[in-house]
Amino acid sequence: MSDIAKLQIGENSFEFPLIKGTENEVAIDVKSLRNATNGIITIDPGFKNTGSCESAITFLDGEKGILRYRGYPIEQLAEKADFLEVSYALIFGDLPNKEQLDKFHSDIKAHSLVDDDVRKILEAFPKTAHPMGVLSSLTSALTAFNPISVNIESREDMYNAIVRILAKFPVLVGWTMRKKKGLHLNYGKKSLGYVENIMYMMFKEPNEDFQVNPVIKNALDKLLILHADHEQNCSTSTVRIVGSSHAGLFASLSAGISALWGPLHGGANQAVLEMLEAIKADGGDTKKYMAKAKDKNDPFRLMGFGHRVYKNFDPRAKIIKVAADEVLNDLGVEDPILNIARGLEQEALNDPYFVERKLYPNVDFYSGIIYRAMGIPVDMFTVMFALGRLPGWIAQWKEMRLNKEPIGRPRQIYIGENIRPFVDIDKR
Ligand code: CMC
Repeated sequence: MSDIAKLQIGENSFEFPLIKGTENEVAIDVKSLRNATNGIITIDPGFKNTGSCESAITFLDGEKGILRYRGYPIEQLAEKADFLEVSYALIFGDLPNKEQLDKFHSDIKAHSLVDDDVRKILEAFPKTAHPMGVLSSLTSALTAFNPISVNIESREDMYNAIVRILAKFPVLVGWTMRKKKGLHLNYGKKSLGYVENIMYMMFKEPNEDFQVNPVIKNALDKLLILHADHEQNCSTSTVRIVGSSHAGLFASLSAGISALWGPLHGGANQAVLEMLEAIKADGGDTKKYMAKAKDKNDPFRLMGFGHRVYKNFDPRAKIIKVAADEVLNDLGVEDPILNIARGLEQEALNDPYFVERKLYPNVDFYSGIIYRAMGIPVDMFTVMFALGRLPGWIAQWKEMRLNKEPIGRPRQIYIGENIRPFVDIDKR
């Protein structure tokens, strides 16, 4: 293939270089388009054909169902690594050796206290507040307690900001859930592993000793790893674009949390469980809901199905489906909605509407079933997604800043009124 793309507009022809990634993905580099053509731009709502950056973090092939973080296949990471190792690899580029991992963990533990005034902000929220709104606000509030903006030229400053947020974010997650449940707040226990400590902060009852359940720990590690990064999705692009204005790390993350909240993105895990519950309450008639999902006059969509990039299968969904079976078995939980989920999946996989549109179960189709078996409330599911996505957001923000990417500022094609005179209010 030639390494030039040619564009013909009327009489004029223009040439643009092609860029090739390490996995042979090809892009037309249109950086010079507007200048060369005297103002012509490309338009691509939803960015379905637009790359926003070059990135060395995550490789995803939606046709082949491949997902790799820093080159490591997701299947191997989910089976063999723990969440902290994966976080390190995403943020710093390679899996850590034992010494690097120990230092990383002890630096995180050193920053694990959250200013008591943040607790006062949490107290002001009603118990009924959605945990994603609370988490986004508290993350934003951290900016006020850590006002010094990160000097990206300083490796030390960058590192400190990273370990600080990795330490404090799980505390906020734990607090958000405890507030909902009316439990006293908890700062965790330094002697525990990173994921064990998250469990402790979420589940420790005031009147009981806490034992780490290895089944839940393994499942949580796996879920967090599977959610840890997914290249330029909606929330990650939000983090990068907010950060591109040189807003701070915590402010950028808070914006990412808000983007993740929506039901077409991370909010799908809550929406899936609510949908499965609604189908159960309605007599378990999956065919009725399949018909609704296919009816173009009905806004209902089969939540947990379809993906912007995966058009074959979502490799994360494969791993999660097996994990859901294992966790429910090991915990001795019989959840009738698992059968509804299996039924819907089978019907969709054999239905021409879903087959033609390449709609397969995504990562969120089964994750909620596992979270529920762990005792996590439904409206906390997207918070768990945010917890998993945190290292990915950090890695992407760091990459964007170190690459000195320009401020994100798309163009538009104006389709409004042409110039018209101002009319005084009494004459309108
Ligand atoms: N149920 C029914 N029809 C669907 C669904 C669905 N879940 N998803 C897509 N379609 C149809 C859609 O109506 C369209 O049909 P047509 O071509 O006849 O107009 C076609 O499939 C293509 O859909 P699209 O909306 O253009 O595709 P997209 O790439 O813009 O959207 C998506 C991807 C994930 C937003 C969408 O599939 C969806 O809404 N799924 C349900 C929500 C969900 O599970 N989201 C979690 C995504 S994975 C976790 C994460 O990364 O956030």
